[in-house]
Amino acid sequence: MDKRLLGKKVIVTGGSRGIGAGIVERLFNEGAEIIIADIKKDLAEKLIENLETNKITFFETNLSEENEIIKLIDLVKSKWGVLDILINNAGIEDGFMLPDQSYEKYRKTMKVNLDAPFLCSKYSLPLLEKSKSGRIVMISSIQGVRGYKGNISYNTAKGGLINMTRVLAVELAEKNILVNSVAPGFINTPMSVMKDGNLEWDTDWFKEVYLKYEKLPLGRYGHPDDIAGAVYFFCSEDSKYVTGQTLLVDGGVSVTF
Ligand SMILES: NC(=O)c1ccc[n+]([C@@H]2O[C@H](COP(=O)([O-])OP(=O)(O)OC[C@H]3O[C@@H](n4cnc5c(N)ncnc54)[C@H](O)[C@@H]3O)[C@@H](O)[C@H]2O)c1
Repeated sequence: MDKRLLGKKVIVTGGSRGIGAGIVERLFNEGAEIIIADIKKDLAEKLIENLETNKITFFETNLSEENEIIKLIDLVKSKWGVLDILINNAGIEDGFMLPDQSYEKYRKTMKVNLDAPFLCSKYSLPLLEKSKSGRIVMISSIQGVRGYKGNISYNTAKGGLINMTRVLAVELAEKNILVNSVAPGFINTPMSVMKDGNLEWDTDWFKEVYLKYEKLPLGRYGHPDDIAGAVYFFCSEDSKYVTGQTLLVDGGVSVTF
């Protein structure tokens, strides 16, 4: 297989597991060199070990902290001096409705899901400019285009991220930096495990709401590689005339509601 991202320098935030790990694997297989920026060290090290490569580096960081993001970009600057692709993937969910949502918890979700993509994009801009064909890909969510009960901070952050995608696409076009977003639906990752330890997919309400009346046309959960394929598209030459867009990768669930 041709390695169509050969030598491209990439940051994947939240790349230690789940969708981020799927993106790391796909872009690595396309020839990219990658820095995983994540709080979880062991999982990233295992991923790198399994791929038997020195082209992927782990940088331990808490993306809720501006100074840690600055350190991440400093590392990229000293290691590569350029950045071709920034994947803003890291995210957390909290699952509260308005009366139970404290401002502290709300801010925590906002910091990771909305502030970190802003800060990573801002501080990596000079390095993306050096690439001459920089790309930013935001991992948003179908919850950013619809309203779901019991996840107010997450829904709000993801909606903001989708509009940040549009704004940055407009602002950065003159620098030939393309900015797009992938909005996953139900994807089988640790995030989909509910507070009681069950997988969302296995619950009666999921079967009733999404499967019984064929509201999820493809009838299955997505997997990280389903998302990685769409991310790859936005990193590749095939999307060179696409910017500001959000691609819903959700088995069709959003079109039936
Ligand atoms: N799984 C789904 O069904 C689904 C659906 C829609 C959108 N998404 C989005 O996809 C992205 C990845 O989700 P996932 O399902 O792989 O989740 P996950 O929980 O499996 O992985 C998230 C990764 O982000 C990292 N992370 C979280 N907070 C961090 C912080 N403060 N600093 C550094 N790293 C941090 C975690 O350590 C983890 O490796 C998220 O933005 C999520 O909102 C997921």
